[in-house]
Amino acid sequence: MPHRRKGGADRSLAVLGVASELYPLLKTGGLADVTGALPGALAPLGVQVRTLLPGHPSVMAALHDPQTVAEWPAWFGGPARLLAGRSSALELLVLDAPHLYARHGNPYLDSAGRDWTDNGERFAALAFAAARVGWGELAGYAPDVVHAHDWQAALVPAYLHYLGAGKRRPATVLTLHNLAFQGQFKADLWSRLGLPAEAFAMQGLEYHGDVGYLKAGIHFADAITTVSPTYAREIRTPAGGMGLDAMLRWRDSAVSGIVNGIDTEVWNPLTDPLLAERYDATTLPRRQANKRALESRLGLPADDSPLLCMVSRLTTQKGIDLVAQALDALVGSGVRLAVLGNGDLALEDALRAGAQRHPQRVAVHIGYDEGLSHLMQGGSDAIVVPSRFEPCGLTQLYGLRYGCVPVVSRVGGLADTVIDANDAAVKAGVATGVQFSDVSIEGLLDAVRRTVALYRQPAAWQRLQIAGMRADVGWQTSAAEYAALYRRLVRPQEPA
Ligand code: ADP
Ligand code: GLC
Repeated sequence: MPHRRKGGADRSLAVLGVASELYPLLKTGGLADVTGALPGALAPLGVQVRTLLPGHPSVMAALHDPQTVAEWPAWFGGPARLLAGRSSALELLVLDAPHLYARHGNPYLDSAGRDWTDNGERFAALAFAAARVGWGELAGYAPDVVHAHDWQAALVPAYLHYLGAGKRRPATVLTLHNLAFQGQFKADLWSRLGLPAEAFAMQGLEYHGDVGYLKAGIHFADAITTVSPTYAREIRTPAGGMGLDAMLRWRDSAVSGIVNGIDTEVWNPLTDPLLAERYDATTLPRRQANKRALESRLGLPADDSPLLCMVSRLTTQKGIDLVAQALDALVGSGVRLAVLGNGDLALEDALRAGAQRHPQRVAVHIGYDEGLSHLMQGGSDAIVVPSRFEPCGLTQLYGLRYGCVPVVSRVGGLADTVIDANDAAVKAGVATGVQFSDVSIEGLLDAVRRTVALYRQPAAWQRLQIAGMRADVGWQTSAAEYAALYRRLVRPQEPA
């Protein structure tokens, strides 16, 4: 056993992740993919992550061998227990509070698609629990860092600040996955948060007369990360800051961008059981079988024209309204379109109507289907991501890995992960997709026309696919950046 220098780079660190979702237990979007994959990527770097999740029914069902490690009889309106257990390789702590979390379906919305009216309490309960673990209430467990994800966990640094006097204080990291969701609640919630009166202030949780969870996290976290370097710049501008840019500029030296990776085992076209045919960069012609399987699954006739897909929340963030409006012109440019998604009802309807107008060229599958999402990437020629803003975006990364060429707007993580097929990049053989700056119907159509032109040059197209498949989209580099950040935060507290 080599000697481990205390405080040295090889010292093992304990990190408590705090999040509302985690793949494969509970997922509504990319946040779950990140919280599900990052612990495995950090483990070889000497960082042991344990993730605290709310006791949603699907989380409870996945928890192996749970042990009760704390019991709180009156926790935000009912009894709660903290359970420690595992699910596959993931180390979990689960806040089992049936009055808050024993609700099937979407973790944030009721069956009518409205926010649960007690979301304020539900995620304050999670953050307060994390703070208690953070300041050392569990026997034998003292995390060096608490890493909170998004507004649902953003009160952790605030609870540690206001209620942690005289207790050990872990370092705190807040990761912003999407500034559009800020966790803002009416001030009448205040009395139920268990925080001192003085915390309801501009230098605390007060935000435009309401309680602001993300705002408080940005105020109190030791480090603030977001999920791509470009988004880290965008959010410090009035155009991209969604009202929080001034605060983020005030915390400027604490803000950084670390681009997301993907789980290259779950997303590996050579081993993916959800594909009709497996392949890699040396056996690309095999993809054709997936194209046929996808067409047949979606009820499209077999056809060799380019098949573009989208796998997405159907919202204006994702530019879906542009796609709906441009649909006839897109079809006119020679492409077919396969959509898997759900979200805004008006956008769902607009896309469905498009599919009815073009039953041979457009297929729309409304719903959430993890299995089909793999076949979409393995069987489509290109994936379109015309987002107005995109903190990172993962579907373009899955596209790269699967030889499904990304066609993306030049924003946030899309700008950081796709190399546009301009002449120089094509000549140098480094291009991996198509980018466009003008996020409008014309901009989108122009990008799709460029895509069709490339598709019609099979050698050039194949070079795009292969360069994408060889791109580094795994977690290794970014996990090392998180590990370095954790160590920078912890080191000053340690004896030399
Ligand atoms: P966001 O988190 O903003 O929705 P990301 O691109 O980061 O966007 O992550 C979206 C994740 O959700 C990806 O893993 C994508 O494949 C998945 N996804 C989105 N919509 C669907 C759907 N309807 N069915 C299956 N998977 C979906
Ligand atoms: C958010 C963002 C998305 C990002 C994901 C994971 O949902 O909208 O861009 O990829 O979080 O970080």
